[in-house]
Amino acid sequence: MKGKKILLGITGGIAAYKIAFLIRLFKKEEAEVKCIMTPASCDFISPLTIATLSENPVYIDFWNQKDGQWTNHVDLGMWPDVFLIAPLTANTLAKLATGYCDNLLTATYLSAKSQVFIAPAMDLDMYAHPTTTNNLNKLDAYGVQIIPAESGFLASGLIGKGRMTEPEDIVKRLHTFFMFQNSMLGRKVLITAGPTHEHIDPVRFIGNHSTGKMGYAIAEEFLNRGAEVLLISGPTKLTLVHPKLQVKDVVSANEMLGVVQDNWQSYEIGVFCAAVADYRPIVQESQKIKKKEEELALTLIKNPDILAWAGEKKKQSQFLLGFALETNNALEYADKKLVSKNLDAIVVNSLENDGAGFGYDTNKISIISKNLQITDFPLKSKKELATDIVTFISKSFE
Ligand code: C5P
Repeated sequence: MKGKKILLGITGGIAAYKIAFLIRLFKKEEAEVKCIMTPASCDFISPLTIATLSENPVYIDFWNQKDGQWTNHVDLGMWPDVFLIAPLTANTLAKLATGYCDNLLTATYLSAKSQVFIAPAMDLDMYAHPTTTNNLNKLDAYGVQIIPAESGFLASGLIGKGRMTEPEDIVKRLHTFFMFQNSMLGRKVLITAGPTHEHIDPVRFIGNHSTGKMGYAIAEEFLNRGAEVLLISGPTKLTLVHPKLQVKDVVSANEMLGVVQDNWQSYEIGVFCAAVADYRPIVQESQKIKKKEEELALTLIKNPDILAWAGEKKKQSQFLLGFALETNNALEYADKKLVSKNLDAIVVNSLENDGAGFGYDTNKISIISKNLQITDFPLKSKKELATDIVTFISKSFE
């Protein structure tokens, strides 16, 4: 972390006392640290302690009442390599999620140009409240990296999830960020994600349970490493915003194929995560089908295999990764797909594992490489697996 500029935002939670240790760890590694404190945080830890340890003045107000000097939040927002807000209270989280900027810290967040990390800390019921979950999801979609709270003893006397991650682990998280940052700079990545919807008539469709979480997490991980990403997304509830991200929303397999065909040749890496419907109705009625007979037969026709098309057109310089979701004999089927679709690697997730697959935040995968070598990963969050998958791909470009 030598020479890295860290802007540390401190808000008013009891975990603020741990920030003294966190600053010591940063300084030990010769990082430069500047701190912004919310007025409430000064009740939990003294600005004098923070100023002494960070070896810099502490910023609290928009302007200094003694000499009338204005603190420029725009300059502060441009200064760091990383803006870390720890601990982050439910109150400041809500402000960040809505763009409310009533103090120097929240105003600087809106001006920040660097990667933002947040380490929430609050009592367990506040942490578990749907409002908090929604606010965290919002920041996640804006590209903020969340260092989730941990379980343990809380200041209230209760035991549960809400403790700020320990300073050592926060430092580790930043180490990983700095290690990978820009490791994919200049690479162009095309990703398909989510389900496809195949219209039966104007109000009905054939779809599947894919949420798009895995594909979006992979897109985010590539963006964090400096890549340029085209995300071709079927209908999902997810959003992702980043200056290097282009999102093309599609509905059906044919539409997804069209966007892939228009773009694949100008991309270097393809990650095909989408759960594309294998079949679509042969006729898409223009009027709603009326309820009449006891039985109704729909005739389906096979959809194009988008990944197989990309594999067929693949140039030597391109890297193509597909996914295989199987309910049985997963590895055997995946091997066959790897060869038949001309892939460089395939990620296998089996619905046989608890906590893996559609809708879950976790997944259990294996990656099979071109030489049929298998790497198994334990059950992890989709975000962590996205890191593993992107790290796996990046090794092919070393
Ligand atoms: O053959 P199967 O559908 O199991 O293959 C799964 C892989 O192929 C996934 O990577 C998926 O995104 C891709 N696929 C596709 N177009 C299809 C079917 C699957 O791109 N029509």
